[in-house]
Amino acid sequence: MKFNILVIDDEKNIREGLGEYLKLDGYDVCLAADGREGLQEVERGEIDLVITDLRMPAMSGGELLKQVASRYPSVPVIVLTGHGTVEDAVEAMRSGAYDFITKPVNLDHLSLLVKRALERRELARRNEELLREVESQKRVSSIIGRSPAIQRIFELIRRVAPTKASVLITGESGVGKELVADALHNLSPRADKPFIKVHCAALAESLLESELFGHEKGSFTGAQARKKGRFELANEGTLFLDEIGEINQNVQIKILRVLQEKSFERVGAEETLEVDVRVIAATNRDLKEEIAMGTFREDLYYRLNVVNIHVPPIRERKDDIPILAQAFLREFADDNGKAVVGFDPKARAALYGYSWPGNVRELRNCIESAVVMAGSSLIGIDDLPPGVRNSADESVVRIPLGSSLAEAERVLIRDTLAAQGGNKSRTAEILGIGRKTLYQKIQDSGLEAGNASPE
Ligand SMILES: Nc1ncnc2c1ncn2[C@@H]1O[C@H](COP(=O)(O)OP(=O)(O)OP(=O)(O)O)[C@@H](O)[C@H]1O
Ligand SMILES: [Mg+2]
Repeated sequence: MKFNILVIDDEKNIREGLGEYLKLDGYDVCLAADGREGLQEVERGEIDLVITDLRMPAMSGGELLKQVASRYPSVPVIVLTGHGTVEDAVEAMRSGAYDFITKPVNLDHLSLLVKRALERRELARRNEELLREVESQKRVSSIIGRSPAIQRIFELIRRVAPTKASVLITGESGVGKELVADALHNLSPRADKPFIKVHCAALAESLLESELFGHEKGSFTGAQARKKGRFELANEGTLFLDEIGEINQNVQIKILRVLQEKSFERVGAEETLEVDVRVIAATNRDLKEEIAMGTFREDLYYRLNVVNIHVPPIRERKDDIPILAQAFLREFADDNGKAVVGFDPKARAALYGYSWPGNVRELRNCIESAVVMAGSSLIGIDDLPPGVRNSADESVVRIPLGSSLAEAERVLIRDTLAAQGGNKSRTAEILGIGRKTLYQKIQDSGLEAGNASPE
C-alpha cells in the first residue's frame, strides 16, 4: 500500500524539497504552508504521517500537533525544529509527537524516522482492524476465529442450533468446545430457557447419578432432602454434558434412556418424570476407541453424535492465532490497565511458530503473562514464556495431507511471511520468486486481508 505524507512548512523551499525527496522514496506527498491548511488536509482522512515545522503563521506546528494527537491518535507526527530549540522539541514530544528532527534536515535520518513511524501506524491500523472483526463476531458468539475451519464451525452452529438434534463436540483439550456449546444454546430457540452444565469428570460416580437425575429424601446416606437433578433443571432448555467420555456404564444406560424415551426416575423414587431437554455433549477422548475397548456404549454414542462438531487444534488452524492473540491482548491490557497495543514482529512470528499443545487455553494464558511482563506498548519476544520464545527457531511448515497444491502454496507463503515478520522482500527471496509474483500470489490467495503479519 502507498502511504500519504503531509509536509507542513511555511518556507516554500523546505516543504518542496522535503516533498520531492519523499516522493523519490516512493511516498505520496501533500504540502501545506501552515498549521491551519495542514489540519484541513488531515481532516480529509487520507494522511498517514505528518511532518511539520513548529513556527508558522496562522496555526503553529505545536497547535496542529495537539489537534492531530487528540483527534487522530493513529497518525504519527514528526516535528521539525530549528537549531537550539531543544525546549520546543521536548514540548512537542510531550504533546504526543512521534519524534523530532532538527534543521538542516539529515535526509537519511528522516527516511529512517518516516519508515519507522509508518510501520507503527500500519501496525496500529491492523490491530484496529482485527479488533473490529472481533467485535462483529462477538455479537453472534464468543468464539473468535477466521480460519476456514472455524468458518465451517460457525456455519454448522448456525445450521444446527435452531434444531433439537443432539450434538457431540469433539477436540483436544483447550480448543474451545465449551464455547461451541454456549453458542449452540445461545443461538437456539431455547436461549432464554435454562442452560445447565455438568462436568462429568469432576463428580464421583455415585454422586453423578444423583446430580443428573436427582434423588428422594433418604434414598442414600446423606440424602437429607429431595433434590432435583440437572435433567429436571434443564427442562425446556439445554443440558451440556462435558467430558462425557468419563461416565460409567450405569449412568450411560440412564442417559441413553432419557435420550430415547425422554423420561427417567429420581434416585430412590418410583415416579417417572418426563422432560424436554436438548443434549449437547463434549469429549476430548476418542469415543470410537472407547467403544472398541468396551468402555463406552455404542448405542449411546450414536444418540449423542447425531451431529458432530469437531474443533481442530490450533496448530491446524494457524490463521486464527493473530486474531485470538490480539483479542486476548486487548482483554488483558484492559484488565491490568496497561497500555499494550500489539506484538512486535519477532514475538508475532514466535506465537505463530509454536505448536500450542494446550491450544487456545494455553495461548490465552501466554498472552496474559506476556501483557503482565510487557515493558513497552509492544509485546516483545522476551515477554513470552520460554517454550513459545524458542519456537521462533522452530522452522517447520505444516501442510496437512490431502491439501491441494494451491492450498500448500498458500500455507508456505503465509508461514514464511509470518516467520519473516511480514517482510515481503525477504519472503520473496527465500521462496525464490520475484516480489511482484509474491504480491500477486498474496492477493490471489486472499492472504492480504487475512493474517499475514504487517510489513
Ligand atoms: N475460538 C475462541 N475464541 C475465544 N476464546 C476461545 C476460543 N477457543 C477457546 N477459547 C478460550 O480458551 C479457553 C479454553 O476453552 P474451552 O474451555 O472451551 O476449551 P475445551 O475445548 O472445553 O477444553 P477442555 O477439553 O480442556 O475442557 C477458554 O478460556 C475459552 O474462553
Ligand atoms: Mg471444556
